[in-house]
Amino acid sequence: MILILDFGSQYTQLIARRVRELNVYSEVRPCTTDPKTVDLTGVKGIVLSGGPASVTEADAPDFNSEWLSTGLPTLGICYGMQLMAHNFGGTLGRGAAREYGPSTVRVERAEGLFAGWKKGDSLSVWMSHGDHVEKLPEGFVTVASSGGAPVAAMQHTSKPFVALQFHPEVVHTPQGKEIIKAFVYEMAGCKADWTPGNFIEQSVKKISDEVGPTSQALCALSGGVDSTVAAVLVSRALGKRLHCFFVDNGLLRKGEAEQVMKRLKSLDLNVELVDAGARFLGELKGVTEPERKRKIIGRVFIEVFEEKAKALKGITHLVQGTLYPDVIESVSVRGPSATIKTHHNVGGLPDRLNFKLIEPFRELFKDEVRALGRELDMPTEILQRQPFPGPGLAVRVLGEVTPERVKTLQEADSIFLEEVRAEGLYAGLWQSFAVLLPVRSVGVMADGRTYDETVALRAVHSEDGMTADWAFLPEDLLRRVSNRIVNEVKGVNRVVLDISSKPPATIEWE
Ligand code: XMP
Repeated sequence: MILILDFGSQYTQLIARRVRELNVYSEVRPCTTDPKTVDLTGVKGIVLSGGPASVTEADAPDFNSEWLSTGLPTLGICYGMQLMAHNFGGTLGRGAAREYGPSTVRVERAEGLFAGWKKGDSLSVWMSHGDHVEKLPEGFVTVASSGGAPVAAMQHTSKPFVALQFHPEVVHTPQGKEIIKAFVYEMAGCKADWTPGNFIEQSVKKISDEVGPTSQALCALSGGVDSTVAAVLVSRALGKRLHCFFVDNGLLRKGEAEQVMKRLKSLDLNVELVDAGARFLGELKGVTEPERKRKIIGRVFIEVFEEKAKALKGITHLVQGTLYPDVIESVSVRGPSATIKTHHNVGGLPDRLNFKLIEPFRELFKDEVRALGRELDMPTEILQRQPFPGPGLAVRVLGEVTPERVKTLQEADSIFLEEVRAEGLYAGLWQSFAVLLPVRSVGVMADGRTYDETVALRAVHSEDGMTADWAFLPEDLLRRVSNRIVNEVKGVNRVVLDISSKPPATIEWE
């Protein structure tokens, strides 16, 4: 595998993704990681990531320089390059030569990572640096240069050290993949054997060994991609010894409970529908504050799940579809900061019930889970499903969550989704949904005055939900959706479009 040390760049996870796209396993660790604490068997190369700081600042994120004595091929990117140069006695310059955005580098030596090019070739790259290497450290030569960075790439003449001032991992460096490939396959000598098929085979064996021949496991299915693929994978190991619950909390999209159950049954899963809508809605009565809604839903979910779990005997394990971005310790600039998304709706359960966790996707990205699902022959309509928040429509019905208002939103949302699908846009959007606002406004319908609520439409593009851009939907689609909602959904007389990105807005409204 390739180990990536994270110095806080917003692109660190992308490096891991690019390496994995080459079918080579890759993991991100905080820059403060001590090499002595890591089992280096199997590690074939190291990447020092970029980062927002300047190497020469007093409190710049540092690393244990023993990483450079492991003898492992090492690639420094941006901050990682400057750190490498600094450690080997080069000097850094800053100021005039800053570059942010698209740039061009010229190949000075067609060797190492640039062996696939000719001297004098130009490459479009993405730069984002204040500092640059001014004087090369001893033993290094320049392999590429740019206007703002005379040393845009350097390598050691006899040791396996290479470094790039630009970011090969972003799409704005079109040939970046070739460069990363040269590092991973040629320099580090990795084999492309990290495939979905191998992953499934290894996981099934690991889970069988871990759970043993007679114990049983539980899984809370949401009908979404992660938990469903997790359940299918684990059921390959445990068969009907995996018990799944699908909790209908009364806050699902229109017709969703029936649809999801039908699909889950077709996957031959041992699944039970728990109809708890009335209980959730009862507990939410009179509540308008977003965090309180979330807390109530989390608590009731755990109660419902716990009751069901206790009724079964012999359960030792709980399956969760946790993904890598949920567990990754991001940033780590001033030491590991462990910013973990707390969206996990079954939080607290394993401890209370004394279960051991099975999280087969702890090291995977969402698109990798989709690839596994395809390998497991799961239908595309499950794999392409847009994410849906655990608290469901409660965080999209702003204000009080009453059964009537949930119904109103379900109708509006289903019209929007139907039209988005008809336009062929569903799979290309991270999410598209309607939100019911507690805002009444005056309208006129059939010559009569109306005073009704407002629906907001939200459609976003995103890679992982951490950041998002609002999607530009075709005008005729928006017209159709707006007309249909106002005409077909009782209690709504106005439709507005949300054109906010994340940050500073979030994807959900609550
Ligand atoms: P925000 O609203 O924070 O959402 O921009 C980012 C992504 O996470 C989803 N989301 C949740 N998922 N439980 C979940 O399983 C939750 O409590 C939750 N809240 C938000 C949201 O739909 C978006 O895709």
